[in-house]
Amino acid sequence: MEHTISITTQAERKVTDTKSVPFGKVPTEHMFIAEYSDGKWQNAKVVPFHDLTLSPLTLCLHYGQTVFEGMKAFVTRDGDINIFRMDKHFDRFNKSLHRMCMPAVPQKLFMNAIKELVTVDSDWVPKDEDGSLYIRPFMIATEDRIGVKISDEYLFMVVCSPAFQYYTKPLKVKVETTYVRSADGGTGTAKCGGNYGGAFYPTNLAKAEGFDQVLWTDSTHHEFIEESGTMNAMFFIDNVLITPELSGTILDGVTRDSLLTIAREKGMNVEVRQISYHELIRAFEDGKRVEAFGAGTAAVVAPIEIIAIGHKEYHCYTGPDATMFRLQKELFDIRKGTVPDTHHWNNIIANNTGK
Ligand SMILES: Cc1ncc(COP(=O)(O)O)c(C=O)c1O
Repeated sequence: MEHTISITTQAERKVTDTKSVPFGKVPTEHMFIAEYSDGKWQNAKVVPFHDLTLSPLTLCLHYGQTVFEGMKAFVTRDGDINIFRMDKHFDRFNKSLHRMCMPAVPQKLFMNAIKELVTVDSDWVPKDEDGSLYIRPFMIATEDRIGVKISDEYLFMVVCSPAFQYYTKPLKVKVETTYVRSADGGTGTAKCGGNYGGAFYPTNLAKAEGFDQVLWTDSTHHEFIEESGTMNAMFFIDNVLITPELSGTILDGVTRDSLLTIAREKGMNVEVRQISYHELIRAFEDGKRVEAFGAGTAAVVAPIEIIAIGHKEYHCYTGPDATMFRLQKELFDIRKGTVPDTHHWNNIIANNTGK
């Protein structure tokens, strides 16, 4: 099916100082929107950013049929714009949609929507070393009906906002053994809104105790590490990179996959397997060097300096020579185009006008 995207641009362009805007608060000047009804996608367009009008009966407001993605565009060393790993984000978006009984978005529509929008708003992609344009594709169920049902109508939209360094200092996290983010057979592997709403309460409790985030554990034993906030959990213990496998309860992170690929290529020892907090305690108590970090689009690598397990706090290694920073740098370099993109992760879409 062909999808023509109509483009209506804002007459007056006013790019603000992207660095001064708080992340996610200021959208770029345009957005993409397409409608799904009568079993097909239609009216695909890039238009000036605007508010939506929804009936209070709209299904997504009641039963949570909402799915989103989060990806980034960067200005490369050569001044081009690079959207990182669009195909992997596309795959994950459609997997999430499938789990939530929402219609698939055709690959061409997804890719072109993002490319057209980023091209129109290319002035908004920060050129600063630590800057990027955050791209948020999302879909909501829009049929007006108060009864519990799968919606027959949807909106697929894309909005963008400039982003800068996410976490400014290493994190203090708590291993969560009471509340769970997801359970076997649940929606943990989908990027659907409800997963995040449900995580707020336990995270808030941890914040009240002085932590930045919780490290989720599995729902059966409350023992095996899952992930943290909007990041996959990774550890270097004695220089072996360990991360939980994709068991169906955690998100298949694009950053996780990229870092694992880079680590294997660099000949690092990589183990994708369950890791229990008992194993962490043993490593700390044996005096091993433990690096712990969150891996995600927002921060790439968010170092963890303290892990609380029960009433005890353990200190992780976060020195400048930590192995996690070597991985992070390699990924930065690929995205910036300063080393060869051997995996074809980069999608160069336009020459930046300010080049
Ligand atoms: C729950 C969760 N885990 C992990 C991640 C990391 O995924 P990615 O590297 O694709 O950003 C995210 C962010 O999307 C997330 O929301």
